[in-house]
Formats: sequence, C-alpha cells, structure tokens
Amino acid sequence: MNLAEVDASAWAELEGAAANPQSAFRYLNLCSVDAGGRPQARMVVLRRVDVGRRILEIHTDVRSPKWQEISANPLVTLLGFGPQPKLQLRLQGSAELHGPASESAAKAWSLLPGSTRSTYMGGPPGDEIGAPPASEAAVADAEGRAFFGVLIFRAETLDWFQLRHADNRRAVFAYDKLGALTSSRWVNP
Ligand SMILES: Cc1cc2nc3c(=O)[nH]c(=O)nc-3n(C[C@H](O)[C@H](O)[C@H](O)COP(=O)(O)O)c2cc1C
Repeated sequence: MNLAEVDASAWAELEGAAANPQSAFRYLNLCSVDAGGRPQARMVVLRRVDVGRRILEIHTDVRSPKWQEISANPLVTLLGFGPQPKLQLRLQGSAELHGPASESAAKAWSLLPGSTRSTYMGGPPGDEIGAPPASEAAVADAEGRAFFGVLIFRAETLDWFQLRHADNRRAVFAYDKLGALTSSRWVNP
C-alpha cells in the first residue's frame, strides 16, 4: 500500500464502522482535557462519518462532564484499535458541539431508535442514582431530547500505526479545513 492507499483504507474502515456495530472502530476513545489540565478519556460510539470532509459524528448527553470540557477546550483526540490487522488510528482535531436546539441534534434524534433515545432520560450522567425516570413514553422522549447533543469532530491529523511481527509501520497524514489531504509521510514506528 502506498500512502494514499493507507489514508483511503483508514477512512474506509471508519466509514464502515459507522454502519456496522460489529466493527472494532465502531467504538472509539474520545479524549479531552478538563479545566484542571487533566486528560480525560471515555469510549463513545461512532455514529456517522463524512470521509470527504474528514468528519466523525458522536452523540452524547449535554449534561455530561465531557460536554463542559469540550465547550471550554475543543481540542480532542479520538483513538481506535482494530485487532485484524492490529491497527491503531489516532485522530487529532477539534470538536464542534451542537446542543438540543440545533438542527444537527434534531436530525440525529429523529433517526434514533427508541432504545437509544431512552438512554438520554434520567438524571445527569455521573450523579447519584435517584428517583426512577418518568415511565410514560411521550414524557420520556421529550425529556431525553432536551439532553441530546451532537459532537462533530473534524480531523486535522491521522496517525496510522500497524503492529506487525518485527515490521511495524506508521504513517502520518494532515488535512485542511475542507478535508483535503495536505501532507502524508511514513515515519519511524
Ligand atoms: C462501549 C461504550 C460505548 C459508549 N458510547 C457512548 C457514546 O456514544 N456517548 C456517550 O456520551 N457515552 C458513551 N459511553 C459512556 C462513556 O464512555 C462515559 O462513561 C460517559 O459518557 C460519561 O463520560 P464523561 O463523564 O467523561 O462525560 C459509552 C461507553 C461504552 C462502554
């Protein structure tokens, strides 16, 4: 594979993962920095990929600590690993947050199944478990919608690392604001 093919294959992998719950890259580690400068990491589901614009979409609860952290500092890293072949994708970029009132959130919410919508009901993530959430479906749906946010990540760089027996390979790529590939090179693993 040449560099262009490596870049294309990595993005094809991500695009496939957004559609396939069985893909290893379906679950990514989203890393941000909190107000105290401490690194924070958590798994998230990759919901949508726009390969041309190098955009990844993630859904979250706007009451979660990550939402506050990323509002204050939009620089984030997404880390993924696929076992076959052993491939690490490390994407650095910035995140745009689209709250419950946004068009992005309205559109994404309209496409969510009821089971996923229900995960946005209940108390704020990380708080003590309190009273059980309202059981009536309509109330539950409306409540969940009010806490549903969309995170749009735009990749600025991709660090591609393939672990191979005695022959590791690593390449780094950079993209401009529109998603065009601006540089690519092999580096020492
Ligand atoms: C496999 C897996 C997938 C997850 N997907 C998401 C997700 O898509 N969005 C999300 O907000 N939290 C998701 N979580 C929960 C987060 O990892 C995290 O625990 C939670 O969002 C609170 O994070 P925070 O306190 O850093 O804001 C997922 C957890 C697991 C184990």
